[in-house]
Amino acid sequence: MNANIGNPHPGATPLVEMRDISIAFGGIRAVDHASVDLFPGEVVGLLGHNGAGKSTLIKILSGAYPRDGGQILINGEEVQIGNPRDAKAYGIETIYQTLALADNVDAAANLFLGRELLTSWGTLDDAAMEAEARKVMGRLNPNFRRFKEPVKALSGGQRQSVAIARAILFNARILIMDEPTAALGPHETAQVGELIKELKKDGIGIFLISHDIHDVFDLADRVAVMKNGQVVGYAKTTEVTKDEVLGMIILGKCPPNAIRGPGAVD
Ligand SMILES: Nc1ncnc2c1ncn2[C@@H]1O[C@H](COP(=O)(O)OP(=O)(O)OP(=O)(O)O)[C@@H](O)[C@H]1O
Ligand SMILES: [Mg+2]
Repeated sequence: MNANIGNPHPGATPLVEMRDISIAFGGIRAVDHASVDLFPGEVVGLLGHNGAGKSTLIKILSGAYPRDGGQILINGEEVQIGNPRDAKAYGIETIYQTLALADNVDAAANLFLGRELLTSWGTLDDAAMEAEARKVMGRLNPNFRRFKEPVKALSGGQRQSVAIARAILFNARILIMDEPTAALGPHETAQVGELIKELKKDGIGIFLISHDIHDVFDLADRVAVMKNGQVVGYAKTTEVTKDEVLGMIILGKCPPNAIRGPGAVD
């Protein structure tokens, strides 16, 4: 167990531990000895100003960037994640804000993009893919009916549910969501919140990056706040106020109920 982070779930093994992770771009320490962990069924909000290092930290976990230092453990075992394929093999899926959907095809085609189901004749098994799509979407978003339309016709929230369905269809255990609600209105944001609650019930762990502190307090069990590449501190959302977390983000000040990280001031 990482002594810097404390143990929010005594006796449980974290799904993910990132320990002492660093990466520099030129002279800039984008991530500087940062540690975070994540337990099954938990949402950990990653907070911090623009440029704090949030996306870079999770890109190391998703295999997009190589780290200069530190360790990654999955279910308590150290792993080497050298590329996105390695990350997927450990059940790590990332949903970027841009979503990376194929706009001109329907939900089922998106769910199976690059991993299509084939019939025994080697042709695309559209019926099987649509049936699977209806199953997984039915669980995540029971009101979704627009299976025959290209995803470009869908609302932001519906597109988000297609992206999430795509991740969990391939057995994601660890989901990284970078600003999932930034482009969404209030109704769609609520829809994504419902999706996240469904995923939690299945024991999926979620790193949620967001600038919206209200969303984070609604959805996250814990927060980790970053500033200048360093972690200011960690807190349970039930044990700190939004103002205290804003103080962590803006001033780097760690309130009494938070666990200090190396980036805390005073
Ligand atoms: N590929 C890159 N090359 C050079 N510098 C980079 C690269 N990616 C990130 N950086 C720098 O690393 C630092 C951390 O950036 P990062 O994107 O991780 O911040 P962030 O916390 O995700 O910010 P935002 O809230 O704006 O998304 C910044 O100073 C950024 O300019
Ligand atoms: Mg970012």
